[in-house]
Amino acid sequence: MEEKRRTYYITTPIYYPSGNMTIGHTYTTVAADTMARFRKMQGYDTYFLTGTDEHGQKIEKKAAEAGVTEIEYVDKIVAATKDLWKLMNIEYDDFIRTTEERHMKIVQKIFRQFYEQGDIYKASYEGMYCTPCESFWTPTQLVEKDGIKVCPDCGRPCQPMQEESYFFRMSKYQDWLIDYIETHPDFIQPAKRANEMLTNFLRPGLQDLCVSRTSVKWGIPVDFDDKHTVYVWIDALSNYITALGYGTEHDELFRKYWPADVHLVGKEIVRFHTIYWPIMLHALGLPLPKQVFGHGWLLFGADRMSKSKGNVVYPEPIVARYGVDPLRYYLMREMPFGADGNYTNESFLTRMNADLANDLGNLVSRTVAMIEKYFAGKVPAWTDAVDPEIDKPLQEHCAALPALVEEQMDKLQFPQALAEIWKVIGECNKYIDVTQPWVLGKDPEKQDRLANVMRTLAECVRFAAVLIGPFMPSTPERIFSQLGIEDPALKTWDSLKAFGTIPAGTTVHKGEALFPRIDVNKELEALSADDGKKAEKEAAKAEKKAEKAAEKQEKKSGHEEPEYPAEIAIDDFFKCKIQVARVLECVKVEKSSKLLKFRLGLGKDGERTVVSGIQKWYEPETLVGTQVAVITNLKPAKLAGIESQGMILSALDDSGNLRLVTVGEGVEDGAIIG
Ligand code: ME8
Ligand code: MG
Repeated sequence: MEEKRRTYYITTPIYYPSGNMTIGHTYTTVAADTMARFRKMQGYDTYFLTGTDEHGQKIEKKAAEAGVTEIEYVDKIVAATKDLWKLMNIEYDDFIRTTEERHMKIVQKIFRQFYEQGDIYKASYEGMYCTPCESFWTPTQLVEKDGIKVCPDCGRPCQPMQEESYFFRMSKYQDWLIDYIETHPDFIQPAKRANEMLTNFLRPGLQDLCVSRTSVKWGIPVDFDDKHTVYVWIDALSNYITALGYGTEHDELFRKYWPADVHLVGKEIVRFHTIYWPIMLHALGLPLPKQVFGHGWLLFGADRMSKSKGNVVYPEPIVARYGVDPLRYYLMREMPFGADGNYTNESFLTRMNADLANDLGNLVSRTVAMIEKYFAGKVPAWTDAVDPEIDKPLQEHCAALPALVEEQMDKLQFPQALAEIWKVIGECNKYIDVTQPWVLGKDPEKQDRLANVMRTLAECVRFAAVLIGPFMPSTPERIFSQLGIEDPALKTWDSLKAFGTIPAGTTVHKGEALFPRIDVNKELEALSADDGKKAEKEAAKAEKKAEKAAEKQEKKSGHEEPEYPAEIAIDDFFKCKIQVARVLECVKVEKSSKLLKFRLGLGKDGERTVVSGIQKWYEPETLVGTQVAVITNLKPAKLAGIESQGMILSALDDSGNLRLVTVGEGVEDGAIIG
């Protein structure tokens, strides 16, 4: 009987079709596509889902501004999104839209089930809503700016809301979830994001979540109380199972692929995927996805690229000029998957030249040219003229390459997987330098030796061509055609089980350069039409300035040990006013890589602004809502142009990482520490 194939289900977030997709959305989608293609190549039965998150007030507004209906508005952007994914060579199995009947019906059913089993209850709710972020905030979470209360995430004004709403009893599942996360170390990756969730949200206590709206019409109606629409995140997260037919008579896909192997998401939405989503699934009696991977942000200059901020790079012009595969390669190669990284035209062009034109392109063209020259274009058979010290290391390294790549791909470490392939490519280029085929070619007695060199190179090129396929889907065929490989069986993952199987007599065909060398300066000028260069320069300048300020601040913050007097009077200690403060807002200081700006709440003592050089250690959004210890009677100091009214206390841990000093539960904001 045929063995049941292993399954692999991977998803991207479903993106808001509020504007066209950027290189940031492309990043996640290319990563998911690469992983899906890799698993498919390995023989997994894979399923790759992407889509669009089309409800909510943000879309309502955008459509109104454009003077069209919501569905007209999103239809257009969805069409452009699908075109972009086609352009980027994205092979998704399904594209779900939350406005589709198949999705809406099941979300209603899920909502009703939650209500009937008591997970959702109706109550009166008072709060503020941030439309761009689609987020509710309690009054204490808001921050004040120029006399008005604004969203702690984006700094824009919020609207007051008071109404009857449905609430999800998140608090009921808090202890279960803490235990689940603690006992499933692979569930949230990278691991530090699990710690952020536990420390900043779960252990301090979950609040029940408002899951319905009466003022948003553009949403899924609650079917037993149709004044209300379902909160967009409950709607959106459900896509991962509604797309598989969960809750319908045709749930074959669901039964086959759930639980997902990985939800790929940007780090800013890890919270929704590792707190609300697991609780929803658990309440439905369903298993959790095996992993949620929160990758970093593609930055442009010093800032996060985002549609709502308007500083965006779009992939289309880059692809039009250089093709898809160089961009896919760059996105997967340039920054560690999990960390933030800068998109710059310069680093893109440099990589194209170094890795693609030089390393890979040259290897292919030299190998093919030499086989043409010395063996009349036919790959020679193996001979006895082996030099074990020179041939063996390369051949063994290449034979081990699939396993090395797999090991990195299992951890979603795309750049490292590519680095493994490029190590072998580099070794091949060195092998050519060491064996000097042009010298061997002059000596008829060295023909046997030359045959082994050529065949080793041809086979290494074949391995590389197969392995880069998931990353750069159109490049392998171009290499195979130069190598003269037609047999599909020589293009598979399985064909890499043995080294040296390229048939003797295969006829190579020299073609055009895979990746022509480009003139970086000339290209930079051409690309700076879209202002890239200017923004980069400004960012670099601002970065330097902010760094200086942060250095000054660090000196003041006590981690450079001052000379302490042997003892002080208790009165000296009491001169310091140290208080417990709640982080109401925390954002990166613009153009600084070190400073965070805090808005701190001191209970009845009001609020204040503190700037602290701890950006390296904390994601600002994860600190919102936590309590810290602050010296509140320090003389104010200006940092990066902002008046800092206090100092947040911290200590260095064993590994030299900074940890904020905090207090146990139940301490009021503003309480005196002493
Ligand atoms: O959050 N760098 O949609 P969204 C890296 N609809 N990744 C980026 C990026 C950047 N600069 N910009 C966007 C939503 N992304 C919700 C999701 S899921 C049930 C609902 C990617 O349009 C990244 O994956 O704001 C990020 O998480 C996502 O796009 C946000 O897309
Ligand atoms: Mg977003």
